[in-house]
Amino acid sequence: MNLEQLVTSRRTCKAFDPSRRIEPALIEQLKTVLRFAPSSVNSQPWHFLLAGSDAAKATIADTLKGGYAYNEAKVRGASHVVVLCARRELDAAHLDAVLAQEAADGRFATPEAKAGQANSRGFYVALHRDQLKDVPAWVDRQVYLALGTLLMGAAALGIDACPMEGIDTAGLDAALDLEAQGLRSVVMVALGYGSAQDFNASLPKSRLPMASVVTER
Ligand SMILES: Cc1cc2nc3c(=O)[nH]c(=O)nc-3n(C[C@H](O)[C@H](O)[C@H](O)COP(=O)(O)O)c2cc1C
Repeated sequence: MNLEQLVTSRRTCKAFDPSRRIEPALIEQLKTVLRFAPSSVNSQPWHFLLAGSDAAKATIADTLKGGYAYNEAKVRGASHVVVLCARRELDAAHLDAVLAQEAADGRFATPEAKAGQANSRGFYVALHRDQLKDVPAWVDRQVYLALGTLLMGAAALGIDACPMEGIDTAGLDAALDLEAQGLRSVVMVALGYGSAQDFNASLPKSRLPMASVVTER
């Protein structure tokens, strides 16, 4: 399958077959997809909670009430659910850990290169913290990049996915004790294989015409 076929055939799964599990080897690949998602200044301001047990999925599904109830069955029927979380703080400990990892991974030939990277990342963190005052929104944008990367990765592996913004983030944070871990939930993805009830599988995809979304100059 070429890239065009992949992006035009991937779709949101609206109902999962609860009897079908994603193979462990494919789960490992999805974890790698998440780990290697790009982020501004390599800030990686995230953590991904991967729920594969019935108990963990039930804990998540139980938070989907009221206006979010339409997503509950997807969570219960999915093989796995990923809660994409943002770090509440981009503190010195996190930034130091990222820099140390880059050093351990061999990215700095000289101490000056390491200092330059620390300064560059520090500039953007200070910009968003002190001037733009939008760290949570900036962090959310990075988490959404991981979301897009995960959706494409799942499609490439033949795994069906349902991205979900229709979630009770405050309820999830409480149910999963995320605040105590310095995290907050942002968005979620159910993963698995569609069932016969997946009405979206037989619907044609719909997008605005190319000329209205892309301009070439
Ligand atoms: C950020 C985001 C949040 C979404 N939230 C939900 C959701 O809560 N429940 C749902 O059934 N679909 C959800 N969707 C699926 C979209 O409706 C779907 O991606 C869109 O209609 C395009 O269809 P396609 O994914 O099949 O190409 C979401 C998609 C994105 C990207």
